[in-house]
Amino acid sequence: MNIAVFDSKSYDVESLSPYQGKDGINYKFFEAKLNEDTVTLAKGFDGVCVFVNDNVNAYVITKLYEYGCRIIALRCAGFNNVDVDYARGRIAVARVPAYSPHAVAEHAMAMLLTSVRRIHKAYIRTRDYNFSLNGLTGFDLYGKTVGIIGTGRIGSAFADICNGFGMNVLAYDSVPNPRPDIKYVTKDELFERSDIISLHCPLSEETHHLINAEALCRMKKGVIIINTSRGALIDTECLVKELLSRRIGGACLDVYEEEGDIFYEDKSGHIMNDEVLARLISMPNVIVTSHQGFLTKEALSNIAQTTHFNIKSLE
Ligand code: NAI
Repeated sequence: MNIAVFDSKSYDVESLSPYQGKDGINYKFFEAKLNEDTVTLAKGFDGVCVFVNDNVNAYVITKLYEYGCRIIALRCAGFNNVDVDYARGRIAVARVPAYSPHAVAEHAMAMLLTSVRRIHKAYIRTRDYNFSLNGLTGFDLYGKTVGIIGTGRIGSAFADICNGFGMNVLAYDSVPNPRPDIKYVTKDELFERSDIISLHCPLSEETHHLINAEALCRMKKGVIIINTSRGALIDTECLVKELLSRRIGGACLDVYEEEGDIFYEDKSGHIMNDEVLARLISMPNVIVTSHQGFLTKEALSNIAQTTHFNIKSLE
């Protein structure tokens, strides 16, 4: 089987290389993202392998089906970028449901610690031999209340880390997973009581703009919001407004609503046209990473193994 791997980076090539040619499966790597403009690249392949910002809509699926592709193998857990309903009966869709929930949960905590202890500021200062501490005062996480929305694999791993820090863990989930060290509350109660809110639910019609103007108004003044799930869980323009009004104390964003054409690319030589993102990055209490929660050796290796297994299972 020949598989066209879209949106591939050096780390994808490296992690899939042990599987190249194995079980009769050959991978050809394309840097382009899969979308309506690039789908012709899939001609002659038996399947495609895609990531979070490939746009696999009905048009793309129709074309893939015409070309004889039999599988869309996602190298990720979330599948909001694939029209799964349209694919049903036409082409198989496979994903990697779990590769390392710890990778994402640990990244969420890394961002939180960076934010509350001003590590991003301190790092730049000491590199310039500026050893002043003015303006670097943080706060203890111990004893603070963290609200976790979505307590599946990643949310549970994040709850474990927060419990280790001596935090009080509140949670909201449409399907709670009761455990003694997590207190489930309503969404509104979580918004009102949490000092820190971390999002770990999938993006769906129901969760789109879960964090909107109304939700932000319910939150405690100074709350820190962490999003390592999907950008569109937050209405970013409303978030910017509340950051500017100083109601929201900080944001740690590994994902962004409009990340599609920006994240994973080197834009350092360009003027940033996305004004909302530029505004966020300009704020000292906002940390933005480029959807890298998954990026650990362990996770990449598990992703490659499951992706290869998914494709092989089609035979
Ligand atoms: P999971 O499926 O194990 O858990 C998701 C949880 O969200 C479930 O407990 C589910 O009941 C809950 N949920 C669903 N709809 C909800 C709603 N309307 N309100 C509240 N809770 C709801 O998924 P997992 O593995 O924990 O991943 C969570 C998300 O993290 C993924 O959907 C993906 O978007 C994101 N992700 C981000 C990565 C990154 O690199 N930043 C990497 C991997 C995943």
